[in-house]
Amino acid sequence: MKDLNQVSRRQFLAWSVGAASLAVGASTAVITTPGSARAAEEIRLPLPYIDFVIDPEMVRQCAFNHYFNGGCMHGAASGLMQAFKEVYEGENTGWDLLPLGMYKYGSGGVAGWGTLCGILNGCMAVLNLIGLHGELGDHLMSWYSTTLFPTANCDGFVATTGQEAIPDEDVRAHTVSESPLCHISISKWCKAAGVSVADTSKSGIRYKDDRCSKICADTAAKTAELINEYADNHQILEPFATPAQYVGCLDCHSGRKDQVGKMDCLGCHVPEHVVKVGSEHPGKGKRRL
Ligand code: HEC
Ligand code: HEC
Repeated sequence: MKDLNQVSRRQFLAWSVGAASLAVGASTAVITTPGSARAAEEIRLPLPYIDFVIDPEMVRQCAFNHYFNGGCMHGAASGLMQAFKEVYEGENTGWDLLPLGMYKYGSGGVAGWGTLCGILNGCMAVLNLIGLHGELGDHLMSWYSTTLFPTANCDGFVATTGQEAIPDEDVRAHTVSESPLCHISISKWCKAAGVSVADTSKSGIRYKDDRCSKICADTAAKTAELINEYADNHQILEPFATPAQYVGCLDCHSGRKDQVGKMDCLGCHVPEHVVKVGSEHPGKGKRRL
């Protein structure tokens, strides 16, 4: 039996718009021969997500727990995967076959390199499993980059491994990363908080882990919300818009095809220092030969 709080979207659709909707869910399921050993090649992407509503609050708590047992990418991906495994329990969809340990490599921005934040990497990996990384990716990356973290959403959380979230009123700093990069996201916060990556609180938790576990929980929960919203509407109602401070840069530079990226340019480029042929460039407009 499924938990009561795991509302069936399939049922809901059937009630509201009739039995034709059933076909939507059914068409995504993998048909297997009863009793046969189900080999890994029976996992067909995309995996289904449309039939049941996953609970963002459950995802938040699960991601928080998993964070302390394998790092940020593992935490975010496993929180979401666990939710899908539970709502699809007993159905041979492929969710049941996936192991939770696939995404430990992303910790610390991939093997500690500080590149893409593992939390985003983990959420995007699960979006990829359900075929929505293109539809929801911009929105999630932007939401993370522009949100003031950590939030108070995890106040009172205790991980299954024993770590207690520091109450938000005692958190030393709240920062907006303005970047999806692990290095920048963590460094900005550590600088504002006046701590090193290794410093620990009196309760023994690393400040950095307190921060990152909360962002892991919140970003996984946000991903669950986006998935639910997309499943209901086939779109995101208020889609990502490039922040005003660098929308102008992209107006020119996405069309010019001279760079790859949608990150906030101003984290790395100072407009006054940017040199351009001609004089209309924002800043001093030094001429290049
Ligand atoms: C009106 C169009 C336009 C806008 C707006 C614009 N750029 Fe440019 N940018 C250019 C052009 C044209 C070049 C010249 C490329 C060349 O010299 O080959 C350039 C060159 C650059 C370069 C590389 C060349 C260098 O010497 O530094 C960078 C980096 C750059 N822009 C960043 C930015 C950033 C960041 C912003 C936003 C603050 C921005 N641009 C806004 C048109 C624009
Ligand atoms: C994480 C840092 C970072 C961010 C964010 C970033 N850039 Fe860059 N960008 C660089 C570096 C490093 C170079 C190489 C500069 C060099 O070699 O002089 C570069 C080069 C460029 C160039 C020159 C490419 C060429 O072929 O000469 C352009 C144009 C550019 N960036 C535009 C942008 C725009 C527009 C944005 C925002 C959408 C942006 N960058 C965001 C770090 C960044």
